[in-house]
Amino acid sequence: MRVIDENTITDAALEQMSKTPNPRLKQIMAALVRHLHAFTREVDLTPEEWLEGIRFLTAVGQKCTAHRQEFILLSDTLGLSALINALHDKRATEAATKSSLLGPFYRQDAPMMKLGDSIILHAEGTEVVFYGRVMDSTGKGIPHALVQVWEPDETGNYDLQKHDPSVMDLRGCFRADSEGKYYFRGLCPLGYMIPMDGPVGDMIRAQKRHGYRPAHIHFVIGAPGYRELVTALYVAGDEHIDSDTVFGVSESLIVPLNKKDPASPLPHLASIRYDFKLAAAKDQMSGRVGADPSQIVGKAGKGA
Ligand code: BEZ
Ligand code: FE
Repeated sequence: MRVIDENTITDAALEQMSKTPNPRLKQIMAALVRHLHAFTREVDLTPEEWLEGIRFLTAVGQKCTAHRQEFILLSDTLGLSALINALHDKRATEAATKSSLLGPFYRQDAPMMKLGDSIILHAEGTEVVFYGRVMDSTGKGIPHALVQVWEPDETGNYDLQKHDPSVMDLRGCFRADSEGKYYFRGLCPLGYMIPMDGPVGDMIRAQKRHGYRPAHIHFVIGAPGYRELVTALYVAGDEHIDSDTVFGVSESLIVPLNKKDPASPLPHLASIRYDFKLAAAKDQMSGRVGADPSQIVGKAGKGA
């Protein structure tokens, strides 16, 4: 009989899992066990500490609802979502706009709007125009690409945090025109604090982190034959641009707010201009680290 001790336990666990028929599941679970055991040995984890870890993970799960996803927040604040995005970007076969975080406030049922419409339905604040093109890697416009956008209000809250879920605000879907051009009106983005009223907030405070995200607006852009792009634009000059709590900012996603822009489709408003590049893909791969929270709860409920 094999002696189970702090070193042989890893091989014993790997051996029991070695008949997993799905090769990718086998690879992922084996690596997870190896790294988890190595981590446990490295920090010499005590039973009380692991119980505290289990309490924390339980609280994270209990905080999740159809409208709140604390596990996405945990993944984001640990830098895991940003790491997965960076690996996803590296797998692209063509040059494309960098990914950024989907975050926990995406909804897949945002209203369809017309180019030029405003996504501001209830919020108050300074209106700006966002415009540009959706292009392929050679700079050719992608006709009728679907552009989904969402942003928080002037108090730093998304509609899901503030209203009954039947009320949507500051989100919408737009079809780019036949040359891939898009434009819409929204709030001038403002920085805000991630949700701090749950276990992830407790973790952030225990680590003496500030909890802020720099001013940004989210985009999910898709078109048949292209990889879906999940990204965000960050407004230059924000005080937290170099210390985002969830590591979403890349240099190439930082944009200026133009007070005067004669090239804008709505020149009386301040503008943010950005041209997005999508990489071609046969299988329409998505770069979503996360999903609409209601979809995650729905699937978990069905045992998927
Ligand atoms: C967001 O940008 O919506 C977000 C991303 C990660 C954590 C919290 C919020
Ligand atoms: Fe956000």
